[in-house]
Amino acid sequence: AATKADDYKVQAARPAIDLVKPGMKLGLGTGSTAYHFVEAVGELVRNGLEVLCVPTSEATRSHAEKLRIPLSSLDETPQLDLTVDGADEIDDQLRLIKGGGGALLREKIVATASDRMVVIADESKMSETLGSHPLPVEVVRFGLRATTRLIQALAAEAGCEGEVRLRPGQGDLPFITDQGNLIVDCAFHTIPEPEVLAFALKRVPGVVEHGLFLGLADVAIVAGSGGVQVIRR
Ligand code: A5P
Repeated sequence: AATKADDYKVQAARPAIDLVKPGMKLGLGTGSTAYHFVEAVGELVRNGLEVLCVPTSEATRSHAEKLRIPLSSLDETPQLDLTVDGADEIDDQLRLIKGGGGALLREKIVATASDRMVVIADESKMSETLGSHPLPVEVVRFGLRATTRLIQALAAEAGCEGEVRLRPGQGDLPFITDQGNLIVDCAFHTIPEPEVLAFALKRVPGVVEHGLFLGLADVAIVAGSGGVQVIRR
């Protein structure tokens, strides 16, 4: 059965579709909220709208292919007009935690290649201080334990427990990202200075990318019990 949160995800996706104009080059996000945006783009395409889209994951690619949305790659189309994506956590400066679905690397590359990034979410994603959602960190397989120790040491006082993400329902097989890497989920609980942590994580050689999206989102469309709210950076 559809929950309230599901309704809010649909409501958040709806205004984002008004931002889509003919001829635009779009980044298509990943996750259960972005799903509704992709569905709506599919409907516009069926009705004759011409757009060119770059998906942020293999999951979104196959969804978009089913809807016959014209797709491109960042190699063919290195600059996009707009990316619409979900988020796991959003603060009032529109700093984000992403990667709950494991697509953070491609999501960040695509959002960075876009003139604008619009985040769509239900109100449960809003947070005063980032960190209540574990921070996903994409790491290479080589040196996994050494890398995890370095990540944990970055927040010793916060007591971050880094856990290698497993494939749901498949015993202890690790989750593998679209880029063939692993994810370490780090329960920092609170990240008072996301910029400082982001910088420190990037200095760990085994870290490919992390789920802190800073200075990327321009607008958040957040739906909840009080209606739909548009937050600008
Ligand atoms: C995918 O890796 C994530 O960054 C998603 O965008 C994020 O987890 C939001 O997903 P939902 O919209 O399903 O909550």
